[in-house]
Amino acid sequence: MQKVAFIGYRGMVGSVLTSRMKEENDFAGLELFFASTSQAGEKSPDIGMDVPPVADAHDLRFLSGMDIILTCQGSDYTNKVYPQLRESGWKGYWLDAASALRMKDDSIIVLDPVNRNVIDQAISKGVKDFIGGNCTVSLMLMAIGTLFQNNHVEWMTSMTYQAASGAGAKNMQELVSQMCMIGKKAEAMLCDPANSILELDRNVLSTMNSNEFETRYFGAPLAGSLLPWIDAAMENGQTKEEWKGFSETNKILQNKTPVPIDGICARIGAMRCHSQAMTIKLTKDIPIDDITQMISSANEWVRVVPNTKEDSLKALTPAAVTGSLTIPVGRMRKLNIGEQYLTVFTVGDQLLWGAAEPVRRMLKILTGKL
Ligand code: HSE
Repeated sequence: MQKVAFIGYRGMVGSVLTSRMKEENDFAGLELFFASTSQAGEKSPDIGMDVPPVADAHDLRFLSGMDIILTCQGSDYTNKVYPQLRESGWKGYWLDAASALRMKDDSIIVLDPVNRNVIDQAISKGVKDFIGGNCTVSLMLMAIGTLFQNNHVEWMTSMTYQAASGAGAKNMQELVSQMCMIGKKAEAMLCDPANSILELDRNVLSTMNSNEFETRYFGAPLAGSLLPWIDAAMENGQTKEEWKGFSETNKILQNKTPVPIDGICARIGAMRCHSQAMTIKLTKDIPIDDITQMISSANEWVRVVPNTKEDSLKALTPAAVTGSLTIPVGRMRKLNIGEQYLTVFTVGDQLLWGAAEPVRRMLKILTGKL
């Protein structure tokens, strides 16, 4: 039985991962240990089987006894522990949801419905570091990766509408607090039909701009607004989130000639589903029916949504997709610019295919169950 240590199981991604692993009975057949940076010695979470008390996630002796380390603890933990562990000679598999090791030459970004061939080759070559990708990139590739794999993309821009969860649990709470505060201050006006819409609008704006409005985590109002900036600045004017679109996509696909990808990433007031609108310059004019067929048969989670108002509002929104593994792709049409220009819109749960699911499936691959 392979010894597996699971670190960071209490955070948002870790909790979603634990719950998915329980649902799929993934813990069976593993010699499992939970390890924590702050809860060592406590009872392990209830997963329906006997597991030893929580181990210390900084204990290198404990970690070096593992065949596989699966961490959702975050990049700071990875940056601290991983180098020491490798330097000590540990040869096990490091499976990580955080970004710290993603762009290392000898790591693989995992998204097996798209790059299973890359993963299998890497395992047979002795690669030991398998890292989950950026959520927006993974969700985009689950939706339209087949167009890249068939060399149909000359270039692509993506405009994203990213949920609060991508910034963290505290940010999700802050978004709801902001919504609450706006609602409370406007409640009396909403109940009085005599108030004009412009008065209501002024009321909302004054709440959003007041000193009491909670903006500690986002740095600005998100409820009733949006934030056109995600993550740190790069020297070229991109944000790091925008930079990842190009670098991670091409790494996941192991493209010898990188496909140009760029766009603008924005935070919106959704809870945990990222949405994105893509403009794609195709390498040739491909009929929309062929594209539909290609996308809908790419994997078992993708669904092409007919380009109608009714279908789009029913199936192509964060409210419709949250909590599900389905990846809807809709608003698909050729742009008026020309027959080689395709636009699509896609939505995906940022905590499932965007974070926990690729890592969960990689553990199954490493333990011979997938
Ligand atoms: N960086 C993403 C975001 C989430 O801020 O939405 C993690 O991949």
